[in-house]
Amino acid sequence: MRDSVKTIAQVQAMREGGAILARILKELREYTKPGLNELEINDLVAEKIKKYGAKASYLEEEVKFPGVVCISVNQELVHSPPVDYVLEEGDKVSYDLTIKYKGMHTDSAFTMIVGRELKGAEKQLLTVTEKSLYAGVEAVKPGARIGDISAAVEAVLSTGRLGIVREYVGHGIGVRMHMLPNVPNYGTRGTGEMLKVGDTICIEPMASLGKEKTFVDDDGWTVSMKDGSLCAHFEHTVLVTDDGYEILTLYSA
Ligand code: MF3
Ligand code: CO
Ligand code: CO
Repeated sequence: MRDSVKTIAQVQAMREGGAILARILKELREYTKPGLNELEINDLVAEKIKKYGAKASYLEEEVKFPGVVCISVNQELVHSPPVDYVLEEGDKVSYDLTIKYKGMHTDSAFTMIVGRELKGAEKQLLTVTEKSLYAGVEAVKPGARIGDISAAVEAVLSTGRLGIVREYVGHGIGVRMHMLPNVPNYGTRGTGEMLKVGDTICIEPMASLGKEKTFVDDDGWTVSMKDGSLCAHFEHTVLVTDDGYEILTLYSA
């Protein structure tokens, strides 16, 4: 389903929901330390979602995901349910959270290293993947095509000689968590659907230090890199405005 034209109230709900989501993710980054169990983290996020008056999209939508936040560690790329695992210093962790506020969904993700500064190849992976997200965002404006975003993301990821994941893509978002159009992390400028004012899309580059192939774990959820390589995922929900874009899930104090 592609979103129909949104009301001003729906856009405002996404702006408010996006601000709540950004705050929760910022608090989660600060809270993440070696010794924390993923199940505690899930409980904390559930508490915060409630405290801020929102709902956990993964429980609201019919996906039946066992948790309120995806917590993907090391070679795990995305969609990993919270499990009984204690974070260690130097683990990579990707958090991906979608919330529903006043009937509208917003979705954002980031990747960090637990308990220490970034170094070496992992630093390259995380910084280039995040940079590719912002390059994609910069391509958003009325009249731009999905391929313009995809090509901008791909161009930056290519500079890092990273595996560019093709099996998962970004998406439209609004009254549902996953809507059309798809937003791939590779593509050709000038192709694909045209964006119009009021559209809301999730741009979410996923990349690895190795090959781009993934597989789904026995749990039926966790997507990991086939070659076991370290991988990263960053995501924002972006609104198309009259003069360009607004990142709805950007943290501002
Ligand atoms: N937030 C994810 C996305 O970026 C979706 C999670 S899928 C679920 O599209 F199954 F875990 F809910
Ligand atoms: Co997401
Ligand atoms: Co998404």
